[in-house]
Amino acid sequence: MAADTASRKPPTLPAPLRRMPTAELHLHIEGSLEPELIVRLAQRNGVTLPFASVEALRAAYAFTDLQSFLDLYYAGASVLLKEEDFFDMAWAYFERAAADNVVHAEIFFDPQTHTARGVPMAAVIQGLAHAARRAHAEYGIGSALILCFLRHLSEDEAFATLEAALPHRHHFIGVGLDSSERGHPPEKFTRVFARARELGLHCVAHAGEEGPAAYIETALDLLKVERVDHGVRCTESPALIERLARQRVPLTVCPLSNVKLCVYPDLAAHPLPALLDAGLCVTVNSDDPAYFGGYVVDNYLQLFAAHPRLGMQQARQLAFNSFEASFVDTAQKARWARELDAVIERLSG
Ligand code: ADE
Ligand code: ZN
Repeated sequence: MAADTASRKPPTLPAPLRRMPTAELHLHIEGSLEPELIVRLAQRNGVTLPFASVEALRAAYAFTDLQSFLDLYYAGASVLLKEEDFFDMAWAYFERAAADNVVHAEIFFDPQTHTARGVPMAAVIQGLAHAARRAHAEYGIGSALILCFLRHLSEDEAFATLEAALPHRHHFIGVGLDSSERGHPPEKFTRVFARARELGLHCVAHAGEEGPAAYIETALDLLKVERVDHGVRCTESPALIERLARQRVPLTVCPLSNVKLCVYPDLAAHPLPALLDAGLCVTVNSDDPAYFGGYVVDNYLQLFAAHPRLGMQQARQLAFNSFEASFVDTAQKARWARELDAVIERLSG
């Protein structure tokens, strides 16, 4: 921040939170399917849903844990059949992301959820890639795709999925690991992550969302992940917190998701501020915004409202971390950091 900002009026927080540029690094594109779009695609594709209306679908979004959410999330994704469906879903996300000043999004997709229903891998990836090209052209939003393996399935199935995606290798930058965490530790996928690294893919994994802190350690040591998705249960191990801070391993934290899935009773109990204090590279993300009550700015606004001690400095740090933790080159990260400071400076004027 410029040296003379200290003499100016600090901007009241909601404005910077709404206006600052940020990168979103933890977003499941299937989790951005709003109920209205689910119902529209079901009608378009002749898919029968176990819900009579948009309202009935939304009313079912009362989750008790990760699995209770995943059951509904996979049911919602069943309406996606054709390339244009994947385009429409991703385009709707990019329109929403543009309104939130997202300048860059690294987007998860779950091919196995679709290929298991007979949808070709090409339809999935090409539909998403088409929307990404248009978002760059129309909104200037940069993006990249990360292919996630479903951890409740086998490592052999993950290998087959990676193989099937290789003709589209130029459309994705990395692999991730998602779905039911408990009972499916990172070590189940050691070999397929080694193969992904050989292919030059970035590696990330969900760990320490519902699973124990030990899963964060094995994701780092065995899968050699560069970022940890969620990772909030690191709070159970002071030694791990110290390691994450020292190695500056980014955590892609999703506050509204953690409350909706009952990891914490409310946002006031969320450990993100403490992790920031401990020097970790934490970032704010929306996870599955259509299901958890908000996109990335909603996550910032509600988190800051629940923790009045969070101020401008923390807002800037979180946005800065999102750039630092992204998989873009250092020159681009520096450009975004300058843009961020320029926005904060303008709002302080
Ligand atoms: N797939 C979509 N959202 C997820 C989450 N929060 N955890 C694990 N897998 C997911
Ligand atoms: Zn997630």
